[in-house]
Amino acid sequence: MEENKKVIFSGIQPSGNLTIGNYYGALKNWVKLQEQYDTYYCIVDLHAITVKQEPKDLRRRTLEVLAIYLAAGLDPEKNTIFIQSHVPAHSEAAWLLNCYTYMGELSRMTQFKDKSARYGESISAGLFSYPVLMAADILLYNTDLVPVGSDQKQHLEITRDIADRFNNIYSPTFKIPEPYIPEVGARIMDLQSPEKKMSKSADNPNSYILIMDSPEVIKNKISRAVTDTIGIVQYTNDQPGIKNLMDIMSVATGKTIDEIQKEYEGLGYAQFKKDVAEALITELKPIQSKIKEYLDNKELLEEIYTKGAEKANYVARKTLSKMQRKIGFIK
Ligand code: TRP
Repeated sequence: MEENKKVIFSGIQPSGNLTIGNYYGALKNWVKLQEQYDTYYCIVDLHAITVKQEPKDLRRRTLEVLAIYLAAGLDPEKNTIFIQSHVPAHSEAAWLLNCYTYMGELSRMTQFKDKSARYGESISAGLFSYPVLMAADILLYNTDLVPVGSDQKQHLEITRDIADRFNNIYSPTFKIPEPYIPEVGARIMDLQSPEKKMSKSADNPNSYILIMDSPEVIKNKISRAVTDTIGIVQYTNDQPGIKNLMDIMSVATGKTIDEIQKEYEGLGYAQFKKDVAEALITELKPIQSKIKEYLDNKELLEEIYTKGAEKANYVARKTLSKMQRKIGFIK
C-alpha cells in the first residue's frame, strides 16, 4: 500500500456463473492494473442478495468468483482481494449514506427500473438502495478510479453525487471517484442478441459463454451464434453478430481486427466460427484448470480471503469512523 499509488476499486457479484464478458471486459484488464495501482477487488455478496439467492449456490459461487479472480492472474500479494460481507464497514457505511441519498435520484436508476420490471412482485428495498451500497464500497477506500462497464456509469455518477453532498454538509471526507476507461477494452455482446451486452443473467444459455464452459459447449454455442446473410467476415455495424465474433477472436488471440478480416477473406462463417471457438477454448483451458485447482484447495482460498479482509477492514474502518465522527455519533 504505497501512498503515491492511485486507488482502484471494483467488484463482481457472485450471483451467476461468470462469462467471457466478465473475463475480457473486466478481469483481464484488472490484472494489468495490479502493478501500477493500489487495487481492491471485491466479491460483492451483499449486492447479490438484492435478488433471491439459494444459500448453497451463493456460498459456492462466492468461492468460485474468488478462484476465477486468482486464476485470471490477480495476485493476492499485489491486490486486496476480499469478500464484501467480511468487511462490516460496507453495510454500516451504506446505512449512513442511505440517509444522504434521495428517493428521487434512486428511482431514476435505469438498472433498478429494468431489474424491478424483471422481478415483478418481489422487489426488495435492497434492490432500490443497491447503488448506495456500491457508493459505500467505493468511498470507503478513498478510491480514485473505478473500472466499470457502461451499465454501471449511472451508479458511479450517483456515488459522486452522494460523496459531494456529504463533503458539502460536513467537510471534505470522501475523494470523488472517476470512471476508469481501459485503453483497449472489449465489450463482449450477447451471442443471440448482439445489440445487448453479454450477461450471466440472460435467459437463454446460448446467449453467453461461461468461463467454465467445456470445449463442446463452447463449439456449440459459437456455432449457434446469430450472424447475418451477408456472408463476409467484416467489421461493420450492419453485422453486429459477426462484429462481436471478430471482437472475441481479437481478444482471445491478440490479432487485430484488420488481420482477422484479411485472414477470412473469401472464407465462410462456418470456418470462422470454428476458429473463434478454438481460440476461446485455447485461451480458457489453462484458466479452467487453475480454477479447479484453487477450488480443490479450500484452505488456500480461506487464507487468501482472510488476509484480504484484514487489509480491507483496516482501511474501511478508518473511513467509517471519520464518517461517524462528522455525523455526530459519540465515539
Ligand atoms: N454493481 C456492480 C455490477 O453489478 C458490482 C459492484 C458492486 C461494483 N460494488 C462495486 C463495481 C463497486 C465497481 C465498484 O457490476
